[in-house]
Amino acid sequence: MPEATSDELLGRIRLHGRIPRHVAVIMDGNGRWARDRIMPRTFGHRAGMQSVRDVVEGAIEVGVGALSLFAFSKENWQRPKPEVSALMSLLEEYIQREADALDENGVRVRVFGELERLTPPAAAAVERVTAQTAGNARLDLNLFISYGSRAELVRAARRLAEDVAAGRLRPGDVTEEAFAERLYTAGMPDPDLLIRTSGEQRISNFMLWQLAYTELYVSPVLWPDFRRAQFYEAILAFQARDRRFGKVTV
Ligand code: IPE
Ligand code: IPE
Ligand code: MG
Repeated sequence: MPEATSDELLGRIRLHGRIPRHVAVIMDGNGRWARDRIMPRTFGHRAGMQSVRDVVEGAIEVGVGALSLFAFSKENWQRPKPEVSALMSLLEEYIQREADALDENGVRVRVFGELERLTPPAAAAVERVTAQTAGNARLDLNLFISYGSRAELVRAARRLAEDVAAGRLRPGDVTEEAFAERLYTAGMPDPDLLIRTSGEQRISNFMLWQLAYTELYVSPVLWPDFRRAQFYEAILAFQARDRRFGKVTV
């Protein structure tokens, strides 16, 4: 049987009806993709940009409300300096190239992580696109850059501690809701679906709080080969899941 086209997959998704409100993606495998072609790792990162474009467009088509992309972890700062520089430049280039199209498509871009560590041009690009797209509401595109989930949790705990110390909050007011409000994702629903590409079966310090009841989908496909059709396949797999949230379904 020939493989289904993106349009056929989209038709099936719509037929089913249950659309995830929030999809998170650990975009992994760029280095291996490049190595398979006897090319430097940065070649894979560049190729991965097209996948980002495809998946963002796919998310808009499907009607997903929020898309969270893990683009650069806190731990990734420990990679060789030339690779880190290349990733910073690519971030800048991606924003420069895509900002207007994202804006026209109604995408609100936000960037979460320790942004003070970004190179000044990358930080400026982030600030620009955030401001430019702030009024949009069709899709929330969250780029996680220089991000580590444990650091995010510690930051939230520190904010709570500050509020308690200043008398703005009582210890008894430290609830799950109060905690969630101090995360980058405040006000957003938790991801319904987490996709990780390249076959790795781990979370790698991504959204530890928010993923509590998220459906996990690991694709063997390397990120630069993960395009719209693969994204739709993941959504279809999600639609077939039985989510129980600890309860019993009748
Ligand atoms: C994902 O691809 C992109 C980043 C982590 C920045 P990798 O660079 O991790 O690629 P692999 O896992 O080495 O193949
Ligand atoms: C996770 O991928 C981070 C991003 C995709 C940005 P890594 O390649 O850094 O994760 P590990 O080292 O395989 O866990
Ligand atoms: Mg990797």
